[in-house]
Amino acid sequence: MKNIHYFKKEHFLNEMKFFNADWLFVCLKSSLAKNNSFVTLNTFYHKIVVQNFRGKLVALSNICVHRFNTLQNDLEGVRPLICEYHSWGYDKFGKTRSHESACLEKYEVGECGDFIFINISKKNIKLIDYLGGFYNQLVELSSLFDNSFFNKISTVTHNSNWKFLVENVLECYHCQTVHSVSLGDIGLGLGTPFNHELHNRHDSIEYPVFEQSKKKSIKGLNLFKNRDLIHASYKHYYIAPNLFISSTEGLFFYIGRLDPLSKNKTNLQVMFRMSLLKNDLNKNIIKHYYKVSSINSINVIKEDQIMIQNQQKNMKYISNKNSIFTKDEPRIINFHKNLNKSI
Ligand code: FES
Ligand SMILES: [Fe+2]
Repeated sequence: MKNIHYFKKEHFLNEMKFFNADWLFVCLKSSLAKNNSFVTLNTFYHKIVVQNFRGKLVALSNICVHRFNTLQNDLEGVRPLICEYHSWGYDKFGKTRSHESACLEKYEVGECGDFIFINISKKNIKLIDYLGGFYNQLVELSSLFDNSFFNKISTVTHNSNWKFLVENVLECYHCQTVHSVSLGDIGLGLGTPFNHELHNRHDSIEYPVFEQSKKKSIKGLNLFKNRDLIHASYKHYYIAPNLFISSTEGLFFYIGRLDPLSKNKTNLQVMFRMSLLKNDLNKNIIKHYYKVSSINSINVIKEDQIMIQNQQKNMKYISNKNSIFTKDEPRIINFHKNLNKSI
């Protein structure tokens, strides 16, 4: 894939075929637990709201059919689906009492454990088939989430093409250089990755975590050892086209949603969850660990952001060149193969 694919609008538009092929991740179910709670998905391609109507999750166009104001302006919140311009309200069918025949466009909502997706292509492919072997893994993973507390979704805007964000998370070859401090204490990037799994367009891999590097923090982590999933690794999933998940030893989870806004601007929507624990650990200790881990994870994202934005700035000078992918970057090669297949 030549560098021109990272900054020309025609290529960005063509990649819609990959991005909008089937299902898109929206958020975790716990963000939509209350009546009238909503989460929006705003990308170059879509303006959609997923809203809780008395317990039923419904995905609708987020643009009022009257004179096209935005219905829900925030990324998430709790508010009935009523337009702020002339107060047209909408029900779970997308219908409004203000005009008999007008109706918002509707999309199928799919649940996989705690992960909420929408069928963007409107093709007749079931979510379970789309996710393939990862369906059960995502159900199991989200059954571990402690949903009794969590922060709001954070947005990190990147001035770069969406593919750079995907490529960045598909390798840990950079972890020892870019994240030597932020991720150094678990020795990330030192060992050989293992358990590389591929299902449809998605993949996952595990990176070993080194106990000797953890000596300083091991005493503190013992407090959290009573939990269902403990793996001595950092496990990463890419669920195409827009979901990143990582599990740090089954204790702390990062969930990222990729929103391409233009050929060189991409929002990363960031969510964190802690694992449920089976002991009566003081809630404040857990919350403190969650807070420190969340701040650290945002720092990791910002460390990557510098590299990713530099790459974008450099594209126009070397538009006909290609990146070199080494044997340490096999997931990127796989991503490009899948992308090329669909465009
Ligand atoms: S634009 Fe929404 S009610 Fe008028
Ligand atoms: Fe990174």
